[in-house]
Amino acid sequence: MTIGFVQHAPRYLQPDANRQHVASLVEGSSADLLVLPELFTSGYFFQSTEDARKIAEEIPDGATVAWMEDLSAHLGSTLVAGLPERDEEGRLYNSAAVVSPRGFEGTYRKIHLYNEEKLHFEPGQGPLPVFELTARDGTAYRLGLMICFDWFFPEAIRSLALQDADIVAHPSNLVRKNCPRAMPIRALENRVFTVTANRYGSESNGSESLTFIGQSEICAPSGEILTRAPRVGDAVEVAEIDLKEARQKEVTAHNHLWKDRNPAAYSLG
Ligand code: ACM
Repeated sequence: MTIGFVQHAPRYLQPDANRQHVASLVEGSSADLLVLPELFTSGYFFQSTEDARKIAEEIPDGATVAWMEDLSAHLGSTLVAGLPERDEEGRLYNSAAVVSPRGFEGTYRKIHLYNEEKLHFEPGQGPLPVFELTARDGTAYRLGLMICFDWFFPEAIRSLALQDADIVAHPSNLVRKNCPRAMPIRALENRVFTVTANRYGSESNGSESLTFIGQSEICAPSGEILTRAPRVGDAVEVAEIDLKEARQKEVTAHNHLWKDRNPAAYSLG
C-alpha cells in the first residue's frame, strides 16, 4: 500500500484558503493514506484564545470534516488532518480527524500540549486511538494517531504499537530540531511505519516568532527514512510500504519485541 504526507505553510486564520491550497497540492496524487499537518486550517501561533475559538470547529459537524469527506471520496484516499476543535461546552482542543472514503472514522485530541498551546487548549484524555482501515486493494491495516509533541513521550507511540498499529500518523507543527532524527528511532523501536506531516514557514503571536522546520518524513520499521521533504516548501510525498515489515516483531532468532518485554521490571509511574 502507499502512504504519504502533505507539507505546506498554513495562512493564519484562513481556513478556506488553506483547504483550497491543500486540495490543489494533492490533486492527481495517489495514496491509500495521506496525512496533513497539525492545525492545517488555522495556523499555529494564536495571538489570543479568541482567535483560536473563532476558527475552531465541532468534529465531525464542521466544515473541515465535510471538506475531508469530499476530498477523500474524490481521491480514494484516507485523510488525517489536524484542526482546532470546539466541543459542545465551548472547550478547545488541538485535534486531528480521520476520514476514509467510507466517511468519518474518528478523532483524537492532543494529550501532550506544547508550550503556549496550554494557554488555549485543553489536553485530550486519551486513549490514544487505533483505527481499523482498508487500503484500496482491500488490505486491512491499523492506523495509530498522535499529534506533534506527543513524539517527546515515547509511551504515546508505544501504546499505539501495543494496540497493533501498523502505521502511526503524526500531524505536526514542529519547531524543535530533534524530531526528524527521533522518529526513525520511534519507528525502529516499535516496529511501525510513521508518517510525520509537518508545516514550514514562520508565525508571530505579536511578541515572539516561531519558525517551523519542515522535513516531513516517512519512516520504516527498519529505522530507514523512506522519504523526507525539504525544510521549506510545499511537498506531497508518497512511499510504497509492505505491512509485513510492521507485523514482524522478531528482532533476532532469540528476541521478540513484545515477548521480551518485562513490564513488571519497569517503574512507569
Ligand atoms: C508542537 O507540538 N506543535 C511543537
